[in-house]
Amino acid sequence: MEYKIAVISGDGIGPEIIEEAKKVLLKVGSKFGHSFVFNHVLAGGCAIDATGECLPKKTLSICCDCDSVLLGAVGGPKWDDLPGDKRPEKALLGLRQELGLYANLRPALLFPEFSDACPLKPELVEGGVDLLVVRELTGGIYFGEKGQCETECGTGAYDVELYTEKEVERIARLAFNMAMKRNKKLTSVDKANVLESSRLWRRVVNRVSEDFPEVELSHMYVDNAAMQLVRDPKQFDVIVTSNMFGDILSDEAGMIVGSIGLLPSASMRGGSFGMYEPIHGSAPDLAGKDVANPIATILSAAMMLRYSFGLSEEADAVEGAVKEFLKAGYRTQDIMTEGMKLTGTREAGDRIADAI
Ligand code: IPM
Ligand code: MG
Repeated sequence: MEYKIAVISGDGIGPEIIEEAKKVLLKVGSKFGHSFVFNHVLAGGCAIDATGECLPKKTLSICCDCDSVLLGAVGGPKWDDLPGDKRPEKALLGLRQELGLYANLRPALLFPEFSDACPLKPELVEGGVDLLVVRELTGGIYFGEKGQCETECGTGAYDVELYTEKEVERIARLAFNMAMKRNKKLTSVDKANVLESSRLWRRVVNRVSEDFPEVELSHMYVDNAAMQLVRDPKQFDVIVTSNMFGDILSDEAGMIVGSIGLLPSASMRGGSFGMYEPIHGSAPDLAGKDVANPIATILSAAMMLRYSFGLSEEADAVEGAVKEFLKAGYRTQDIMTEGMKLTGTREAGDRIADAI
């Protein structure tokens, strides 16, 4: 079977980590008899440099014509002084919005054999941590009305957090479905003691829960959730939350599993189409040095195999190869500890591809 993948390498370490994920996909292709066709397109800072726009129309239309999108990272200091709506990051928001990718899945998995990378006390993570953050991705404060105004106290600025019942309902449903496939425990995170939008969120989540009687639902305020994640991360299975809270909590969850360099993500719209990217950024200071960790991108490719192409055996093979790599003591510099074997970006990709 042939799969068409739109590839957005982007900026900073983006191109290097994408090369390693492609290497791994090609190995999967030859081993399991699939063909992956990569269509490279521009977005982010490199697109600004080449076309003047961070998300050219051609990029969007090619993404729409493909079966899925694989993205490295966008942004860098070179473009930091551009106005908000012209920055490379705007390309990410545009892709999410234009492709309708309302659900962002961010698994945080701490392999037991890798618990030395976790900054928490060993007893807190004994046996490993395995949780999934389901972040709403096309609504809330990221996309609400924003602007500046003149006030008696000088210039003011605002961003509106607005959620509709429909937006909450569809993300809640997706999160309940994910929980059904895992340990049937869902924590909905909000700030319902203060925010009206959170009170709507909670009402809708409660309503959707009636269709999932097997899932144990609880609600948690975001400040408490931030604390509970480091106090007792094993209490969580699936977390569902808004765009802004999900942005923050998924970075925190990333830290718990040792390195944000290990965390993949999938952005979905219901159905098989999705965009897959590491949750870390473009790390411009690491670019071009063969030191970036390609694992998050490789694991993102594994999520693509599983969720977009329905190739779970192949996805297992990629995830297994990553585990083997770590188990054998190989580490890129971001997760390097004493006694381990330091590898560069390319060597890591080669070894993981070889292990498939
Ligand atoms: C993420 C990133 C983005 C976000 C930025 C780069 C716009 O932090 O994907 O988590 O805030 O969504
Ligand atoms: Mg973020």
